[in-house]
Amino acid sequence: MMPATFDVEKVLTNISEQDKIALLSGIDFWHTHPIPEFNVPSIRATDGPNGIRGTKFFAGIPAACLPCGTALGATWDRDLIYQAGRLLGDECIAKGAHCWLGPTINMPRSPLGGRGFESFAEDPHLSGILGKSIILGAESKGIISTVKHFVGNDQEHERRAVDVLVTQRALREIYLRPFQIVARDAKPSALMTSYNKINGKHVVEDARMLNLIREEWKWNPLVMSDWYGTYTTIDSMNAGLDLEMPGPSRYRGKYIESAVQARLIKQSTIDARARKVLEFVRKASQVEVSEVERGRDSQTDRALNRKICANSIVLLKNEDILPLPKGIKKLALIGSHMKTPAISGGGSASLEPYYSVSLYEACREANPNADLLYEVGSYAHKMLPVIDRLLTNAVIHFYNEPTGKKRRLISTEPISTTAFQFMDYNAPGLNRELFWATLSGQFMPDASGLWDFGLSVFGTANLYIDDELVINNTTNQTRGTAFFGKGTIEELGSKELVAGTTYKIRIEFGSANTTTMKSVGMVNFGGGAANLGACLRMDQDKMIENAVKIATEADYAIICTGLNKDWESEGFDRTHMDLPPGVDRLISKVLKVAADKTVIVNQSGTPVTLPWADQARCIVQAWYGGNETGHGIADVLFGDVNPCAKLPLSWPVDVRHNPAYLNYASVGGRVLYGEDIYGGYRFYEKTGRKVLFPFGHGLSYTTFEVSSTVTVAPQIFNMDCPAVATVQIKNTGKMAGAEVLQLYISAPESPTPRPNKELHGFEKVFLQPGEEKTVDIQLDRYATSFWDEIEDMWKSEQGTYEMLIGTSSQEVVARGNFQVDRTIYWLGL
Ligand code: BGC
Repeated sequence: MMPATFDVEKVLTNISEQDKIALLSGIDFWHTHPIPEFNVPSIRATDGPNGIRGTKFFAGIPAACLPCGTALGATWDRDLIYQAGRLLGDECIAKGAHCWLGPTINMPRSPLGGRGFESFAEDPHLSGILGKSIILGAESKGIISTVKHFVGNDQEHERRAVDVLVTQRALREIYLRPFQIVARDAKPSALMTSYNKINGKHVVEDARMLNLIREEWKWNPLVMSDWYGTYTTIDSMNAGLDLEMPGPSRYRGKYIESAVQARLIKQSTIDARARKVLEFVRKASQVEVSEVERGRDSQTDRALNRKICANSIVLLKNEDILPLPKGIKKLALIGSHMKTPAISGGGSASLEPYYSVSLYEACREANPNADLLYEVGSYAHKMLPVIDRLLTNAVIHFYNEPTGKKRRLISTEPISTTAFQFMDYNAPGLNRELFWATLSGQFMPDASGLWDFGLSVFGTANLYIDDELVINNTTNQTRGTAFFGKGTIEELGSKELVAGTTYKIRIEFGSANTTTMKSVGMVNFGGGAANLGACLRMDQDKMIENAVKIATEADYAIICTGLNKDWESEGFDRTHMDLPPGVDRLISKVLKVAADKTVIVNQSGTPVTLPWADQARCIVQAWYGGNETGHGIADVLFGDVNPCAKLPLSWPVDVRHNPAYLNYASVGGRVLYGEDIYGGYRFYEKTGRKVLFPFGHGLSYTTFEVSSTVTVAPQIFNMDCPAVATVQIKNTGKMAGAEVLQLYISAPESPTPRPNKELHGFEKVFLQPGEEKTVDIQLDRYATSFWDEIEDMWKSEQGTYEMLIGTSSQEVVARGNFQVDRTIYWLGL
């Protein structure tokens, strides 16, 4: 699509009132309203945040899948995240999109948050700086970022209804801070409002919140609602919401016309919102995007994605095991994630990847001559794994009638897996409100025995194998967590099957509105969805026994397990922090016999309980790693990449220790942010509570020495030209590597309580063996200020501030200080 040229004011003056109003909502799931007579094109937005899915949830064009937000956070690497933004920009262009819906810069208050994996970090400074980097990267390709979700969408439970009760101080210092940083440093051209309320009002219709960004921060992005997150006509218009998404409109259009006639919305308000949409369209359309949605999987992108993944892997513990030597003869590969990597969390972040590399495949590449022994050890799925590689000739037929002679075929789509979501699917003649579909295909099991099948649905569905009803999920439906919380639980059935035999598999599906469940407080994406999984039933004890046997026999063992997109997803929060049932027992049993040669690799987007951590000698945190998951992990395990990532989240010993433990789910319609400004490490440090691994922790294969003093210049803090801290660092080991120097500020004693320390700067330094560097770390004006609730302003208080350089939040290696010579109040950025 060619860049559009039009004069916003001229268009505004000359278009019809209907067009003006039509600009204020999407026309469908992903597009804005075009006005061809005036050269105003339709702009395409797409998810975000760890890849560019394009316009289709169902039968979409595959995409590059990047590591999840917390993995990107763990790199602490501005340049790499900028590169990630450029890659997303290129992917947008290929998908015909001008604007992506990301990054997510909400705060993972608790390890249980369903979307915690999407955000970068528990610390607002780190989150804001990496947010800025990815936005600038995408912008360098002409693509607009939509930073989200403004603000307080930090849990999934009742996300559209929950009233977040938070002090102004915590709101400013913790939850708004990442948005403030991107407003200051990147000024992205779009912002998405959150679903929730803040202190009694939905953000999407709260003029105070939306004026804050425009008037106080002087940042004027297009403000769009989250999907189905516009709840009113008048209040959202008057508060400053420019664009209702998705379309067709539910609250605008004719309702706006009527509200204008009743003088409940001013003409000037409509003009202001339409002007903003036009400005956005003009800016967005400057990039030339592909006419057709296509993929673009190149070697350069693969290499970058692999580098990002490897650089996100955190070495949590290593007692003389890693890196593994080259030329291993016998390697035991154990675990649920060994052959099925977890590449992304669930919900709108998930997408169909170009490909994915498992750790098993990567170990084979790295050790072509080794004898690889494999055992799953323990299943770790929440829902049975979808059928894909054992499925052939699968198609879905769509109809407007459930059954009967009058049933007419509307469309047919090929499918390669037994999971589908129809929220944005349409075909000529299909009644989107109420339709039916039949999935049919051939299933050839690779093992004989009793197979378990599991079917969850948003809508209704029955499973037939060779025309025999195996699962009925049409009557007596029970609500579960799948499909953004709209789906049923997984209904189970089983059947004795013979390996190598072809079975006819059929799902009779009814769309969303055929559901028999009542929906409360959740987003209704329409269309419906279903997920069919299958797996050979195995004896748990036997599986563990087999794994222990190969671990004993081998020179080394790697266990790769963890969570996946069914455990961590948009739409619901986790109910506990534990690994899936059976996994801890597997790990403990293997460690009992082979701790001195076993590496544990955990894949999860946020912390999980590791009850065997003391027993283990080597623990690696591998997040959701995108297409290159297996390569990224193997590069670190076999020493091709020296681990250089640091935890962007504190890792509690026990879920009950986390700062939000008493105040997480929505109770009585509200959630109290009782930990106030003490989120993450601020909380653990203030309360003296031990964590398993602290924020900022991560080991390397080399060693670094940091000068014990920090020079700070100028000594007197100047708001317009804040101090620079200077330290020396040397790589004293034998391998090239990187250290992240973390700059924390500890404020002077004051009547207003402050955290023990707060991150206000960082620098990642790459060093060859023996190399030494002088490193400058720049502070910003936020470093000394807290939000004064009486004055409603930032306050930088007079006194001596300590500057701490850490290699984690707990490993302080150098100290210095500086003065603030007079107290200053300020507002703005
Ligand atoms: C999510 C957004 C996402 C949108 C479109 C919503 O459910 O909260 O983050 O961008 O859907 O998929």
